[in-house]
Amino acid sequence: MQGRTASAVDAVNKTGGRGYDTSFFSPGRFMTSDKGTRRPRGAVRVVGIAGGGQLAQMMLPAAAELGLAVVVLDPDPQCSAAGEAQGVVVGEFQSAAALRELAGRCDVLTFEIERINAAALAELEAEGHVVRPSAATLATIQDKLEQKRFLARHDIPTSAFAAWESGTPLPRALPCVWKARRDGYDGRGVAILRDQADVAALPQAPALIEALVDIDYELAVLVARGHDGTLLHYPVVEIVMDDAAHVMDTVVAPAVAPAAVMARVRELATRVAEAFDYVGILALEFFVGRDGAVLVNEVSPRPHNSGHYTIEACATSQFEQHLRAVAGLPLGSTALRGAAVTFNVLGAPGARGRPCYLGFDRDDADVFVHCYDKPEVRPGRKMAHVTVLAGDRDAALARAAAIKPGIRVEGSNV
Ligand SMILES: Nc1ncnc2c1ncn2[C@@H]1O[C@H](COP(=O)(O)OP(=O)(O)OP(=O)(O)O)[C@@H](O)[C@H]1O
Ligand SMILES: [Mg+2]
Repeated sequence: MQGRTASAVDAVNKTGGRGYDTSFFSPGRFMTSDKGTRRPRGAVRVVGIAGGGQLAQMMLPAAAELGLAVVVLDPDPQCSAAGEAQGVVVGEFQSAAALRELAGRCDVLTFEIERINAAALAELEAEGHVVRPSAATLATIQDKLEQKRFLARHDIPTSAFAAWESGTPLPRALPCVWKARRDGYDGRGVAILRDQADVAALPQAPALIEALVDIDYELAVLVARGHDGTLLHYPVVEIVMDDAAHVMDTVVAPAVAPAAVMARVRELATRVAEAFDYVGILALEFFVGRDGAVLVNEVSPRPHNSGHYTIEACATSQFEQHLRAVAGLPLGSTALRGAAVTFNVLGAPGARGRPCYLGFDRDDADVFVHCYDKPEVRPGRKMAHVTVLAGDRDAALARAAAIKPGIRVEGSNV
């Protein structure tokens, strides 16, 4: 299906929640009568989210604005979203029974993590439960090898790759990149292989080997796509990685890149979203090589760390937009209001136990600290993020650099 043009999309303006009745939250949260509301019969009232981490947590204020109730599924009853969600199903992401219970408690099921049982989701979908993005999309994306094969099949440029099993010869010469097929989020499933010692140190896991790209810089973009095929891009942003940990460190919005590169990023993002017949927020990461080539690095079927800046900097946050798309509501404007820099706050080296937040109390109007309320800190665990707004990129970068050293999460052990 073709995405709509920008002008058609402009007509699809958000209602800011005003067109939907929010009164059902109180006192009878799950009452079923539509009397007196403009919500059409059969419309989505309850969204089920597999995963109750910070991404689900950040969807909750938007859900309340839209008049949607949220039930999350998470193995941890103290997960980030537990405090504010209308319901929590405590269960494993691989548990078909837990997913079934979640499906039974919502009108549409979505997810904020990839490592859930896609076959169980497909079964629920086949029985008539609405799953957005689709179970097939999740199944393809959650396996990095299948994801790369999908991109290659659709002529989307990506680094050369091949499947690899531990103990077999590498399919390409060193240096190259090893990636675990599954569960490799936050750089934990990525290793640059420069010599045989690096190869010997790899964990035993089904993997793929990629060509090492000579990266000039990395970009990301979010695409929002509605169930009717309406497609909107968020601004293209620059992502700066922590080279040692392979974790996203800083996001700068907007990116500065040649117009042809920006156009190519948007074009590829559109093609990927349409190839999946995607519904929801799709996050795409890109490499721009020193040779100028634009390659898709990876895609995520959910709101993403590279889009946290949208909470303060865009007319519609990625969290509200994802809910709008999966609930079948009109998409909102993706316009950027100014420049923004977001950086992650990870658990400090050696930090364990109860989190101790340093530098989180601030009253500056241009700095927004989002604490994920995790009960426990570990070194490198994503504990919070900070977004700085400014009139232009350089000012936002300078301000972020000035405040960053003072914002830390230590553990009760120190
Ligand atoms: N083929 C490659 N060539 C060069 N560098 C690479 C390659 N693949 C990955 N990297 C580097 O490693 C980083 C992390 O890789 P990738 O995005 O695939 O993993 P990830 O675990 O999903 O990370 P995250 O969840 O933080 O996005 C990339 O952003 C890039 O800096
Ligand atoms: Mg990545």
